[in-house]
Amino acid sequence: MVNLTINGRIVQAKEGEMLLTVLRREKIDVPALCHHEAVEPFGACRLCTVEITKEDWNGYSNYVTSCLYPVEEGLIVSTHSPKVNELRKTILDLFLARHPNSPEIRQLAADYGVFKTSYETVVDGNNCILCAICTRICDTMGFHAISTVGRGHGKEVAPPLHQVPPDCVGCLACALNCPTHYIEYTFDNNYLTIWDKKFELMVCSRCGKKTITKEFAEYLSKHRDIPFSYFEICDECHRKELAATMGQITSWEREA
Ligand code: FES
Repeated sequence: MVNLTINGRIVQAKEGEMLLTVLRREKIDVPALCHHEAVEPFGACRLCTVEITKEDWNGYSNYVTSCLYPVEEGLIVSTHSPKVNELRKTILDLFLARHPNSPEIRQLAADYGVFKTSYETVVDGNNCILCAICTRICDTMGFHAISTVGRGHGKEVAPPLHQVPPDCVGCLACALNCPTHYIEYTFDNNYLTIWDKKFELMVCSRCGKKTITKEFAEYLSKHRDIPFSYFEICDECHRKELAATMGQITSWEREA
């Protein structure tokens, strides 16, 4: 175990743990727009920056992204020192210039007292903050259907060659985990459309509820060794079936 001091409080952490993981566990609120527990840290948004020092650093301190910084014995961490807050304000000011219409960015900036950007606003800016949570999750799931393309100001998230992504199975992991809700999708009767690709939805054979896409069910069946028939019943009906079976077993046990 490693002992460190966070905002004046001594805290224990596991060796090799990232600082942000410890902050989250200690319920210390630090903004972290590009962080997601399911994927490796990336260090894109810089908002999780904290101030660190040690007793033998002779008053010297450093600024590190907590999502990428492993804990160390004797580390003294300030998550909201005046300098850290100032740094976050500048980052949010820049975010606001690029994404003035994002409710999430506006709210976060307002939390830090930034209500209007001091930089020139990019008029055609969209709400993608290039945190790459979507592409990293897609890669982790094994699909590699989207990636970041282009460079500099024109960098964006898109399918290969901006065409309908052949490897997308419509799992929605990208859209549902996007911190700024940039990735659009629509449901229309028995179909889901995302990245301009239309997917047929599975329909529960018991209650008629629409569940995951057929392509996602086929993928899970093939790669996770789950019988395809499992996806012909929704989770709720599976649970009801299990409860009924358990009830039956209990009544048999009582009768025996
Ligand atoms: S969460 Fe650490 S840099 Fe974005």
